[in-house]
Parts: sequence; C-alpha cells; structure tokens
Amino acid sequence: MTPEFAPASDDTRPLWLVWSGDDLPSDAQAGPWAEASGFSAKAGQICLLPDAAGGLRGAIMGLGERALASRERFPIARAHALPRGDWHLANLPAGLDPDQLALGWLLGQYRFTRYKGKPVQGPRLVCPTGADADRALAIAAGEFLTRDLINTPAGDLGPDKLEAAARALCNDIGARVEVICGSALAKQNFPLIHAVGRASAVEPRLIDIRMGDQGPMLTLVGKGVCFDTGGLNLKPGASMGLMKKDMGGAATALGLLKMLAATGATGRMRLRVLIPAVENSVAGNAFRPGDVLASRKGLTVEVNNTDAEGRLVLADAMTYATEESPDLMISLATLTGAARVALGPDIPPFYCDDDATAAALQQAAMQVGDPLWRMPFWDPYEAQIEPAIADLDNAPSGGMAGSITAALFLRRFAEGAGRYAHLDIYGWQPTAAPGRPKGGVGQGARAILASLPQILA
Ligand code: BES
Ligand code: MN
Ligand code: ZN
Repeated sequence: MTPEFAPASDDTRPLWLVWSGDDLPSDAQAGPWAEASGFSAKAGQICLLPDAAGGLRGAIMGLGERALASRERFPIARAHALPRGDWHLANLPAGLDPDQLALGWLLGQYRFTRYKGKPVQGPRLVCPTGADADRALAIAAGEFLTRDLINTPAGDLGPDKLEAAARALCNDIGARVEVICGSALAKQNFPLIHAVGRASAVEPRLIDIRMGDQGPMLTLVGKGVCFDTGGLNLKPGASMGLMKKDMGGAATALGLLKMLAATGATGRMRLRVLIPAVENSVAGNAFRPGDVLASRKGLTVEVNNTDAEGRLVLADAMTYATEESPDLMISLATLTGAARVALGPDIPPFYCDDDATAAALQQAAMQVGDPLWRMPFWDPYEAQIEPAIADLDNAPSGGMAGSITAALFLRRFAEGAGRYAHLDIYGWQPTAAPGRPKGGVGQGARAILASLPQILA
C-alpha cells in the first residue's frame, strides 16, 4: 500500500490535539460540550464536535499527560480512530514536532493487505503545517516496503522472491543489481553463504545493489534468511513460528534504500546494499554441527550450532563488501535472541567502535522515534569465539552475552571498512502500538537516514 495525505482544501474538518490538564483551544469552542461528554484528554480519547445542524464540525483528541509523553512514539497515529473523511490539524501543541506528526500519521496507515483484501478507507489527514510532506511520504513508503517483506510468509518470499522484490525496487529507483546464485556462490568463493543455503529447495544467492556514483561510500549488509528452521540444530516449534521475519535486516536495508533514493540522498553518495538471501533448511546435504567451514576471508569457522547461521552468511557478504573499502559499512540483522533478552523488542542494540559515529546514530535514533541503544564490542569476550580446532566458533557455549559475541564474530569480517556499525534488530512489533501495527517493522533505517549527514560526511 502507498502512504498518503489528504489534499489541502477548505473541505477538511479541524482536529485539535490537547495535553491532559491544558485548557482546550479557545477556537475549538468546545468547552461545555467536551466537559459534558466526559472528555479528559486521555491519550487517544476523541471528542467529536457537532455543529448547529447536528453535523460533524471537528474533533478534539487527547494526548494524555505530558509527563508520560516519552511512553509513546507516535501519539498522532491514534487519530486513525477518527471517523472517515478528511481532517487537518487545527493546532500544534508545544513539544510536538510537525515532521514527527506527519510521519506518525502515515506510519499508522499501514495494513498488510496481501491475503485479506482491501481494508476499509479510514480518515485522511492533510500534512501538518511546517512538515516536509515529501520526506515523510518517502520515509513511510520505505517503511511500508520493509513491513510488507517481513510480513510475507516464507512460502511466498523465499530467496528467489526476495531477489525479485529487490529487483522490482531497483527497477523503480534506477539502481543496478547483480546476483550470484547457487553453485556460482561456491565457485566465486562465498563458501559460508553456500553452506548455509544449500539444503533449501530454493537456491541461496547474494544480491548486490548499487546506486549513486559520487561521494562517500556506504555499504549496507542485510541478513536475508528467508526462513530459519535452525538447520540440523532444529528450533523447537515455538521458536520457529516467527522465523519468516529472519530476513528483517534485508527488508530494513531495502526500505532504507528506497528512502535514500526518494529523498535524493543517493545523489550525494555511493550506496551499496548486499543481501545474502538463503533459507536455513534441513536436508541430507545440510551443513552440520561440528563441520569446519572456510570463509571467503580465509578464516575457518567451526559450526557449533547450525542455528547461528546469520553471522555465517553475513561474514562472506561483509568480506566481499570490504574488498571495496567502503567509508562506512553497516550490518542489519535479526541476529540473536539474546538481544531481545537484553533490551526487548522495542530498542535494538547497536555496536560501533567509532565514538562520533555511535553518538550521532544514538542521538538521531532517539530524535526520530527509531530508538537504538549502544552496546560494546567487548574485547575481553573475543576468546569466547576462538575454538580449539578452527579460527572462529559460530556459537560459543554458555551463551552468555550472545548479542556481543555475535557482534564480535561479525567484526572479524569488517576489517577494510573505514568504520563499521552493526544493528542486532528484532524486526517485529509483538503488540500493536500507535504507528506500529502488530507484525513486521523496520528498525534502524530512519535512525541511519537521519544521522547520515553526520555519519557519512
Ligand atoms: N534468527 C535467530 C535469532 C533470533 C531469534 C532473532 C529470535 C529474533 C528472535 C538466529 O539465527 C539464531 O537462531 N540465533 C541463535 C544463536 C545461538 C544458536 C548462538 C540464538 O539467538 O539463539
Ligand atoms: Mn538461527
Ligand atoms: Zn537466524
């Protein structure tokens, strides 16, 4: 679906937003009515305003208590509960940013419609005054792509279909694509991608996208595990249930690519997006626990757990990326359950050794409602990923600090990039929140986009 605003016209109804405890805006002329209807400006509480003829003239929506504002990212998205029709914001309460209002409204429009037909048309909102409508639309459209890709089950989005989706996007935005597929992966020295993906009926592949040809080089590497059974270290049913979302990193990278193209950022940079697209499946030719695999970089990896497959496919893709020495490389991956244990579904950890880059990313993340939290590439844990019989261990026993040891594993393959950041995302909204319906969700893309002027100067 495509995000949209209502066209500005005289025909739209006014919507006032009010913090609880504040006076109602006097131009709403709603005091006695609002009081009589029990309106107390609770978050999302809507008070419809009648005109003299009994028609609907406008509405007031509560924002709740100002002191609790940090609990909610996009309070405006609650206004999707308004009656159908076109609305405009009649006021801008202190503390609300027009661009965030515009984006929050659009993000609340999202529905996953592929298998259920068209949703009923909801209310529409004119882009709030002072907001950059084109930018909000570009960001929302990228995020909708990410959500659609994550929500699409693996039966309809295997590595081949993920490639097709990437090609369709590249066709739209004028990006170049190359794909290395199946046995060509082995021939061209991507042994880890091939090993992880070879047991699937759909061939593994490396999708390589480029756009823009001047300025600093940014390479995004997105984990594209279209389904993660765990491999021979099979996941129990409850853990496998959501694993269609294990390509959330790839989906987020593609959504970000779409945002960068639509906002014109790709005119000022050299962007590359690498997606190892595989299904971690079970068959007679599956890679096994105990196997020692060579990597593209030459480091050998002992497979302690076939369910730690993400770091394997990313390692070869990252090695390939560093062969061009990008100024900045960022990996996005639904990499560990441990990241969820540490920070929960809302706020993914990120890792970066460059303090200035980390600070810019952290600040932008909070500002645009795409939170991230820095965790350390903790050198003392390096020994945990060093087994006795190979260079690296893909799944240290004990499992403590699982997100950190996964990040340390990836960092071994980042040498050659000017700077490296890694985001261990979840890619899923477990319960609906304003602007984020239950289901697939992008994490980190908007933070990267907003920090780009600082991190890719
Ligand atoms: N895709 C999973 C990680 C995951 C699980 C992300 C649940 C989000 C929600 C990844 O491939 C995986 O299975 N990781 C293992 C690693 C372990 C075997 C070292 C994990 O986190 O349990
Ligand atoms: Mn896994
Ligand atoms: Zn996985």
